Amino acid sequence: MSLPKHQMQASPSLILPLSAVMLTLAIMAFTGVPSIIWGSHSPIFASTRHPITGEHFVNWRIRTAPLWLYQGLHAAPAIIWCLLMPLQHIDDFRQRWPAFHRQNGYIVSCSSLILSLTGYWMIGKKVAHTHVNIFHLHNLSGLLPFGWPTFELSLICWGPVYLYSLLRTVRTARAGNFPMHRRWAVTHTISAYAISLERVSLVLTYVVGWVLALLPKEAVYGILNLEDTMSAKASAELDTFALANVMAFFMAIYWAFYEWRKATSLVAVPGHLKAPGKYE
Ligand code: HEM
Repeated sequence: MSLPKHQMQASPSLILPLSAVMLTLAIMAFTGVPSIIWGSHSPIFASTRHPITGEHFVNWRIRTAPLWLYQGLHAAPAIIWCLLMPLQHIDDFRQRWPAFHRQNGYIVSCSSLILSLTGYWMIGKKVAHTHVNIFHLHNLSGLLPFGWPTFELSLICWGPVYLYSLLRTVRTARAGNFPMHRRWAVTHTISAYAISLERVSLVLTYVVGWVLALLPKEAVYGILNLEDTMSAKASAELDTFALANVMAFFMAIYWAFYEWRKATSLVAVPGHLKAPGKYE
């Protein structure tokens, strides 16, 4: 007898806030980041500043990147993606309007593909806030005993997970293999929300920056072994920017693993049913 299983799920209560965070940042890729986050008063780690101008890297990007690529082919699809992806994971919505789910699925999958292609294109064109040496190991100038990879390298390593799960999502849907489609769709969704988790981690580093600002400045710079110059601050913030990416990928792996465990755990052992109301 085959036993019923939990189903993998990208919970709307998790992905809706993540979409909201990413949507805000995507809008800022058009409007710019307000100066409260990068002005001269902004403490160390409370921004991600450019080493020469001191402005937030997004503002620098808006001034210097090809906007058809950065805004037109990346930030704009990100807005569409953030608005439409959560709809794919609301069970009632999907069951009520299957035709919408199908059409929306094509739009979201195309957006996912465009985001990755243009994302890697930007990396190729050096439109990315990353260390010049792709294999550099960040460690806050030796403050931490371990190192972590650059923003660029960690994004490249993430690519196969993102693209393979996208391919399987589309293929299983077209083959009408809905149990597998659900698994791959959730896996792809998590792999793509890793990008939002990166921005959430980045915001957390900004909160740390504001907390550190409560301490005497000399003590903080002493512990960090940092000079109070723009380029030193920008370099330390590049370290935390890369760290946010790595943290996000670990969070996404944990999230996917958690969902996968749920999906493979047996639920209905005859005579030992646990809280049956919770299971599908
Ligand atoms: C494999 C997939 C992806 C890659 C390789 C990628 C890569 C990049 C790169 C290199 C940048 C420029 C960062 C900079 O200015 O230094 C960027 C910016 C951006 N990405 Fe992606 N991206 C991917 C997927 C996504 C997804 C799924 C979303 C949202 C749903 C997204 C939303 C954005 C937004 C809003 C920006 C501009 C604002 C910002 O940097 O925060 N990206 N991306």
